[in-house]
Amino acid sequence: MKVATHQLRCTECGTRITGSAVNSIFRCPDCNGLYDVIYPWSSIPNGDTPASDSKLPNASALRWLWQERRTSTMPIDQSGVWRFRDLLPIVDNPENVVTLREGNTPLYDLPRCAKAAGIDWLLAKHQGLNPTGSFKDTGMTAALSVAAERKFEWVACASTGNTSAAMAAYAARAGLRSIVFIPEGKIAWGKLSQSMDYGALTIQLKTDFDGCVRILTDLVTRFPIYLLNSVNPYRLEGQKTPAFELLEQLEWQVPEHVIVPGGNLANGSALAKGFTEMHHLGLIPRIPRISIIQAEGANPLYRSLQETGGQELIPVKANTRATAIRIGNPASWRKALRALRTTGGWCEQASEQEIALAKAQIGAEGVGCEPASAVTLAGLKKLVAQGKITREERVVLILTGHTLKDSDFTINYHRNELFTEAENSQIDAAQQSQHAALRKPPVVLEADSDIVLRELEAHMRLTQLA
Ligand code: F0G
Repeated sequence: MKVATHQLRCTECGTRITGSAVNSIFRCPDCNGLYDVIYPWSSIPNGDTPASDSKLPNASALRWLWQERRTSTMPIDQSGVWRFRDLLPIVDNPENVVTLREGNTPLYDLPRCAKAAGIDWLLAKHQGLNPTGSFKDTGMTAALSVAAERKFEWVACASTGNTSAAMAAYAARAGLRSIVFIPEGKIAWGKLSQSMDYGALTIQLKTDFDGCVRILTDLVTRFPIYLLNSVNPYRLEGQKTPAFELLEQLEWQVPEHVIVPGGNLANGSALAKGFTEMHHLGLIPRIPRISIIQAEGANPLYRSLQETGGQELIPVKANTRATAIRIGNPASWRKALRALRTTGGWCEQASEQEIALAKAQIGAEGVGCEPASAVTLAGLKKLVAQGKITREERVVLILTGHTLKDSDFTINYHRNELFTEAENSQIDAAQQSQHAALRKPPVVLEADSDIVLRELEAHMRLTQLA
């Protein structure tokens, strides 16, 4: 299984340590920096060069092998993460891999969303179609396999809901015990139900996500629990693999832009690492721009770039209906900044109304996603309007969560109960009519076919008029 052993490299001071030497909070004891996983062959996103004696894996043989594994009946071959295990040799024994056959997610074209954004070519890689309904599964299979191999009994995370759902499921598969810390009342019910269903000890703390992280960080220094938040660099090794898969799906044609939502700000850097490794191996001639979009009410990276040029983070008191990204003090902001700088991407923000509209537009293409994922389309519209993305450029949105994760949001939107009247009065007539055209509230009728027919005729007249 092992092509090469790995090390952890501090993203701030460059210190390298072995994987087993890392402390319980996954931070450098000298400078508090986060780590990257590095291999003898890998170039890392801040331009470090590979060791001179390192041997690059044979890229074309790997391409063939990755495809070949898709036809295998072995679980690790069927996994869309471990299929690429040659580029993430983080476990010593493949038997320790914990997989739910994550990855291998579809790539959809979104012609109507492309038109709404003012471009010709728009695709969505739907990471919400993973086993627990979010992109977190790709990272969780990686880091939880490491936890299992290192014989941890307990794993834990603080979460806005998706990480906890993924962790609870993978821990259950591995027979490990899991503790979930979530902000009370501030996550979608679908996600809360998942951690209970998968048997986690679910603790709702009377604080926000950032408060949950604080408590957990303290706890892991006092109790032998394996931390599975995205500060754990093994998570990102799994989360880099959708970049490989996307390139396969595009027959190794590189899109100009990839757009991700930003919350705790790890995912953009994971994808940047994936593309950088493909580039370094000679599989692609260039790296796409990776842009990160935040909700206006949870925009610490956006504000930091606007107000300090990215010199320091400006934490905010986060508030958005896109609860997955309701994060005011993101751990991986420096990694995100590095991803923006090395790929030439941008950071934008989207208002609550813009997020809701984008989500409805993605839903209306028969694809659907959770609110946090829809910031990508809302952000794309802004980047096009600013001239940063041009009509003919090829853009891929990363849809991070399944639409069923937060059905309350969708139902409230279509019933026109999501926003207050005051909020609705703040948007212009054009936006109002876009919303009106997309809203499909349920109609309650008597069980009488004449009545149903009359409703149908009225509906047809209305749509002909529109
Ligand atoms: N989209 C969804 C659906 C998410 O659940 C998250 C993060 C993000 C985007 C943002 O990704 O943190 O790498 O910038 N959810 C975390 C959680 C924080 O606990 O589930 P990021």
